[in-house]
Amino acid sequence: MSTILTGIRVNGELTLGNFLGALVPMTRLANKYSSEHQINIFVPDLHTIIADVDGNLQSNIIKSLKYYLAAGLVLNDNVHLYRQSHVPAHSELNWILNCVATTGELSRMTQFKDKSGGKDSVGCGIFTYPVLMAADILLYDAKYIPVGEDQFQHLELTRNLAIRVNHKFNQEIFTVPKKTVEQAKFMGSEEGIRIRDLQNPEKKMSKSTLAENSKIMLSDTPEKAAKKIMSATTDSLGVIKFDMINQPGISNLLQIDALVTDTPLQEVISTWAGETHYGDLKKKVAADIAAFLELFQAKLAKIDDDVILNALTRGEEYANTVASRKLLQVQQVFGLR
Ligand code: TYM
Repeated sequence: MSTILTGIRVNGELTLGNFLGALVPMTRLANKYSSEHQINIFVPDLHTIIADVDGNLQSNIIKSLKYYLAAGLVLNDNVHLYRQSHVPAHSELNWILNCVATTGELSRMTQFKDKSGGKDSVGCGIFTYPVLMAADILLYDAKYIPVGEDQFQHLELTRNLAIRVNHKFNQEIFTVPKKTVEQAKFMGSEEGIRIRDLQNPEKKMSKSTLAENSKIMLSDTPEKAAKKIMSATTDSLGVIKFDMINQPGISNLLQIDALVTDTPLQEVISTWAGETHYGDLKKKVAADIAAFLELFQAKLAKIDDDVILNALTRGEEYANTVASRKLLQVQQVFGLR
């Protein structure tokens, strides 16, 4: 059985972007494929500490996993929940892959450039974080990794590192993950791949943006989220059209509406074709977001911590078994064992 795998950092609350770009697609794939694939859903807690954590790391870990259940994830024997730091093989393979990756390729990572831009010095974790991500994936021979567009470059790096190691030892030690185009095809929908910042729709919606109105958090009250939609930046063209290049604000609203109401994007686009009142569109999206959050938060409140803690106990046993086996194989080819 091959593996489908994903992880979301838990620096504070998650955004609607994390939810629609990664969590919902993973949940959909898990429910569809868990009889044919292993489904690994993990919390990259070691990745999380590359940035400040707010003192709530433990509760954020549990909450982020509850989100999958609230989004409809069905747990079974092939669905594995685990925390990265509870599977030491991740850190060990990270070091080995650090000796394979080059400073040149890591310096080209857009996320590194963004996070280090203009600063004389940044934490080393920000620089080497894509290598740890490669270890997360390669330990489990994952072929499909549902992530948003901002992580595609890291998936390409993962492929390159896997190919390099396989080539070096002339053996198929690592399964090379599928190319990002194939990943997108497998996911069946690219709609959630890049949710935009509400105030500055040229950019992605991001947890780290300071402006509150730019992002919808999963913990926002329905009223607060609705207000944020009402204040979203649009344009002065005066026609409702899906055009991410010229009308990213309007297109983002159409996309969000399609995703939160579970309606095909084309259907939403056709409904609004030719309309000119941006205020009407905002009111509809605001109402849909509010209804979506109300239902989601009600489901979340019903999930007990113990469900997650029990799943973690099982998941970490599984993850340690699979990851240690792969690590040993790598240690052997490098001559460490
Ligand atoms: P992170 O924690 O920054 O983001 C988690 C997931 O959310 C997606 N995402 C978005 N998708 C659509 N629109 C947005 N505005 C948006 N913002 C965020 C991200 O693409 C991502 O899928 N390095 C990873 C975590 C990680 C990982 C892994 C993922 C560590 N190891 C192994 C997959 C496999 C990260 O920092 O994502």
